[in-house]
Amino acid sequence: MHIPVLLKEAVDLLLGNGGKLYVDCTVGLGGHAKSILEKNPQAIVIGIDRDPQALELAEDNLKAFEGKFSLYHANFSELDQVLRMEGVSEVDGFLFDLGVSMLQLKSPRGFSFQKDERLDMRMNPEDRLTAYHVVNQYSERELERIFREYGEEPYAKRVAKAIVVARAKKPIETTGELVQVVTSVLPYRVGRIHPATRVFQAIRIEVNQELKSLEIALSKTLSFLRSGGRLVVISFHSLEDRIVKHFMKNHLKVLTKKPITPTIEEIRLNPACRSAKLRAGEKP
Ligand SMILES: C[S@@+](CC[C@H](N)C(=O)[O-])C[C@H]1O[C@@H](n2cnc3c(N)ncnc32)[C@H](O)[C@@H]1O
Repeated sequence: MHIPVLLKEAVDLLLGNGGKLYVDCTVGLGGHAKSILEKNPQAIVIGIDRDPQALELAEDNLKAFEGKFSLYHANFSELDQVLRMEGVSEVDGFLFDLGVSMLQLKSPRGFSFQKDERLDMRMNPEDRLTAYHVVNQYSERELERIFREYGEEPYAKRVAKAIVVARAKKPIETTGELVQVVTSVLPYRVGRIHPATRVFQAIRIEVNQELKSLEIALSKTLSFLRSGGRLVVISFHSLEDRIVKHFMKNHLKVLTKKPITPTIEEIRLNPACRSAKLRAGEKP
C-alpha cells in the first residue's frame, strides 16, 4: 500500500548516534517505525499521524513489537502535547517523512487529479477546511496567492480567474471538474508534467496547512532533542525542503551537506519517491 522512501538511509542516520527513544512524526503505515524497531532492539517509538486510517494500519503492521510503540492521532505541530502525555522530556531522534501516503492517494479523498472524486484533500477527515471550500469560497486574490506561493504556478492569476468564472455558473464539486477548468486555460504539453499538478499541490498544502505545521513542529523538536540527538526529514517539494534546510542550518549540526536522494534503482521500483530529499542534523 505504501513503500517507505529512503528507508535504510533515514533509519541509519536516525539511529546513528545511539539512543532509545524515537518519535516518528509521520508514522503513516509504520514502514519506517518498523525498521527502527527491527534495527535497534532497545528502541521505543512514539508514532504520530493526523490520519486515523493510517494509524489503524500502522498498529497492525507493528503488531510484533507490542509494548515498544505507542500511536497518537494528532498533528505533528502538537508533538509537545503528545510527549507531555507520554511523560517524555528528552528524545534521541525525530523522523518526518512528509507529504501524503499511497493510502491517501488511493483513498477517495480527492488527492489525485487522475481520478474524479469529491474535492476534499483532508489528511485528517476531522479537520474543517476542505478543498471544496478553498475552491468555491476563497477570493480570486487568495486563490492566486496560494497557487503562486504553494504551487509556484507561473499562471496563478489565469487559473484563479478561470475558477471564479466557472464557479459563478455552478459550484466546482469534483477533482475532474477542477481539472477541466485548469486545463481550459493551461494547455497540456507533451512531455511536461500534467498542467493541474501545481494547482493540486497548492490546494492540498492550503487545506492541510502543511508548511505552517512543519515550521511549528520543527521548532518544537529543539526543546526535546538531547545533545547528540538527531532530526531526519524527508521532503517532497522545494517549499518543504527550503524550510528544513534553513532550520537545520540555523539550529543543528548538519549531517547531510547535500540532501540524500533516492538511487535510480529505488526510483525504478517506486516512481513516487523520485522527488524525495532527505536532510539530517544533530543537536550540538
Ligand atoms: C509519506 S507518509 C509516511 C509514511 C511512513 N513513513 C511509512 O513508512 O509508512 C506521510 C504521513 O504523514 C502524515 N502527515 C502529514 N502531515 C502531518 C501532520 N502535520 N501531522 C501529522 N501527520 C501528518 C500523513 O497523514 C501521512 O500518513
